[in-house]
Amino acid sequence: MKKVVFLSGAGISAESGISTFRDSGGLWENHDVMEVCSVGGFRLNRRLVLDFYDARRKGLADKKPNRAHCMVAELQREFPGRIINLTQNVDDLFEKARCESVVHLHGELTKARCEHCDETTQIDYEEIPLGMKCPRCGSAAMRHHIVKFGQAAPMYQIQHTAIDDAAAQGWLLVVIGTSGQVLPVESYARMMRHSILNNLEAQGDIDGEAFTQAFYGKAGEYADRIQVLAREFLTQADGES
Ligand code: OAD
Ligand code: ZN
Repeated sequence: MKKVVFLSGAGISAESGISTFRDSGGLWENHDVMEVCSVGGFRLNRRLVLDFYDARRKGLADKKPNRAHCMVAELQREFPGRIINLTQNVDDLFEKARCESVVHLHGELTKARCEHCDETTQIDYEEIPLGMKCPRCGSAAMRHHIVKFGQAAPMYQIQHTAIDDAAAQGWLLVVIGTSGQVLPVESYARMMRHSILNNLEAQGDIDGEAFTQAFYGKAGEYADRIQVLAREFLTQADGES
């Protein structure tokens, strides 16, 4: 059975008012990336890093999903089990759009994790105080759930399987709103028979030619078009392409 694999980044949430990382005015401009996002930075100054993520988490409370998040949710309802939703984003906008399953490759702001036993708990928009106790093992070792530079990303295994399956079975890969500086999305597209890119504009790290189709502009504005293409792909008989 044919499937569609969505792979999104910060750009899909930009129209909902969440800053991207690398655009001008993005999150990194005001912060030293290695200070707030590396294993070493967290060791040096836990409070600074927890504060950084507390602020990001608090900022999510009033954010709403946009047309692009809802488009993926609608496709999941229309084609149960046939839409894989991988995202690099740590926000909860796909959940707010009522997506049935979301694979957060880089973790989730609305969760905390125990450094000692790996227990994960839902904290919604609350702060994480220094020394917060783990509900399972009792260690004062709860921290933000976001994957840091220099740390393994357990969800990457799911992503690799999805990309390999998509390449082997001729599924459709849809990449939305990512600079391609962390995940090699251009290489993924070159493995596929069917692929779509939607980014705000063409940029150096991703060659749009590697994709079957590339749309440049806002994700919310291209969402309906991408939904039609995904639907057409999923309803074509297997073998037709
Ligand atoms: P980036 O900030 O690197 O890239 C965002 C991309 O979205 C850029 O290519 C923009 O052109 C595009 N964009 C901006 N607004 C858009 C819109 N309205 N519609 C469509 N595209 C738009 O973000 P990511 O590629 O997601 O990891 O960054 C990857 C990872 O880097 C993040 O997950 C984060 C960071 O390290 C962690 O936090 C662990
Ligand atoms: Zn624990």
